[in-house]
Amino acid sequence: MNEAALAQTPRRTSLKPTPSIHEIQAFNLPAHLPIALYEKHRQESVDYLNQLPADTITIRDLCRKHHRQTSGATFHQLHLLFDKYYREQHELVAAG
Ligand SMILES: [Fe+2]
Repeated sequence: MNEAALAQTPRRTSLKPTPSIHEIQAFNLPAHLPIALYEKHRQESVDYLNQLPADTITIRDLCRKHHRQTSGATFHQLHLLFDKYYREQHELVAAG
């Protein structure tokens, strides 16, 4: 390899292996599989399934926010309750 070609070769900055980037399915589009459902209905499923994790993350963050902002006579009970809800939502987010 000559010097000019060597200078244009990208240098590796990390020892981590480069992940292979292979898109299995385009985001927000249904896969074309013979499952006997119209594309319109598959698209609706894709839309709902994409919205679900976003809603779960929002609920998780709201539970955390209210866990911290609770005040008053029922502070301790609500503090524990919002913490419980937060952990449950967090498990769903982490599992998904
Ligand atoms: Fe706390």
